[in-house]
Amino acid sequence: MTETTAMLPTTDAPAFPSNRTCPYQLPDSYKRLRDEQDALRPVTLYDGRQAWVVTTHETARKLLADPRLSSDRTHPGFPATSPRLEALRDRRPAFIGMDPPEHGTQRRMTISEFTVKRIKGMRPDIERIVHGFLDEMLAAGPPADLVSQFALPVPSMVICRLLGVPYADHDFFQSASGRLVQSTDVAETTGARDELERYFDELITGLEADPGTGLLGALVSRQLAQRTTDREELISNAMLLLVAGHETTASMTSLSVITLLEHPEQHAALRADPSLVPGAVEELLRYLAIADIAGGRVATADIEIGGQLIRAGEGVIVMNSIANRDADVFEDPDTFDIRRSARRHLAFGYGVHQCLGQNLARLELEIILTALFERIPTLRLATPVERLDLRPGTTIQGVNELPVTW
Ligand code: HEM
Repeated sequence: MTETTAMLPTTDAPAFPSNRTCPYQLPDSYKRLRDEQDALRPVTLYDGRQAWVVTTHETARKLLADPRLSSDRTHPGFPATSPRLEALRDRRPAFIGMDPPEHGTQRRMTISEFTVKRIKGMRPDIERIVHGFLDEMLAAGPPADLVSQFALPVPSMVICRLLGVPYADHDFFQSASGRLVQSTDVAETTGARDELERYFDELITGLEADPGTGLLGALVSRQLAQRTTDREELISNAMLLLVAGHETTASMTSLSVITLLEHPEQHAALRADPSLVPGAVEELLRYLAIADIAGGRVATADIEIGGQLIRAGEGVIVMNSIANRDADVFEDPDTFDIRRSARRHLAFGYGVHQCLGQNLARLELEIILTALFERIPTLRLATPVERLDLRPGTTIQGVNELPVTW
């Protein structure tokens, strides 16, 4: 057995997380963590506490499948990467913050809406939505803000249809969910969460009278009425699905457009051969790893791995952006190459919490990229990439504005 080394706390623990300075490259500090070759590195969080960051693909997969790591955000040892997470520690978590067996019970209630077959059936609807927003953007521009006119409304309308949430309320929930995932202010975060909770409470009351055709109506009539879930749980899960359903795909769309426009030869190859689109989506997921901060866990028992000892109660953060750039798995990992086989990326996580919406996200991105470049072959950035305002490392990676022209 290898000898175990560092213990927390240690004096050699850099500040974490870091902000990207390029939308599609790892911050230098993450490259350093990766290149040190340790599978686990101690880091210091904003509140001075320390946690382990997992940096290799192999260890990331092992730990994400290890039942001794818990997703319970209310556990005092769960690593808070910003005050925003600390502000939500006392709230009842959605199933992303639960462990088996409760996690599986809640996840299974929604899974039938996210199967490959069910999602494939949404293609005509998603195509109509994508072309509808492209028609509007083309009629109004150029120039345009790709985020507010296209990247955000498309997945927002798609998840509304799937859940049975009225898209007419999009101004409210896009603003509230933006504040929920991005705010650095505790009062603003809890305020956004309260507003969304009240919104879903009222929506559920309406669905009790008329469930309609969406997933939330089905959960109200099947699970709430039969008491296999309670109202508070349903509200948390509805919020998770709505927020995760549009913030992520919106960010992937903006960053994918930037990355392709900044790699003109890859962009040209994709436009010349649409059969490359599914592989390009996988490579973009690997390369951009927008939800790299999502792999927080807390150890419920001592775990010896990669020559290190994680002690019970210590925090662990599995960084999929770093694992996706592991040279043992992806040759020349910092190079963007739409023809490589990127399927082993961990952008959707791994293990029991692996992204529920991944089939939907893949289909949306395939339709979005195909339609966007077909309809606007001369699309280009209206602001140089160095001047774009990038989101900080504490949240889903992305931009809040993307000026484009054609
Ligand atoms: C490209 C876009 C997306 C990315 C990169 C992404 C990434 C992730 C990651 C990394 C996790 C795992 C979190 C963990 O290990 O704790 C996750 C979980 C989850 N995602 Fe996504 N996601 C995306 C799109 C979506 C969409 C469109 C939905 C639709 C509702 C969705 C719903 C969820 C849910 C419900 C979970 C929790 C699953 C569970 O705990 O069992 N995601 N996602």
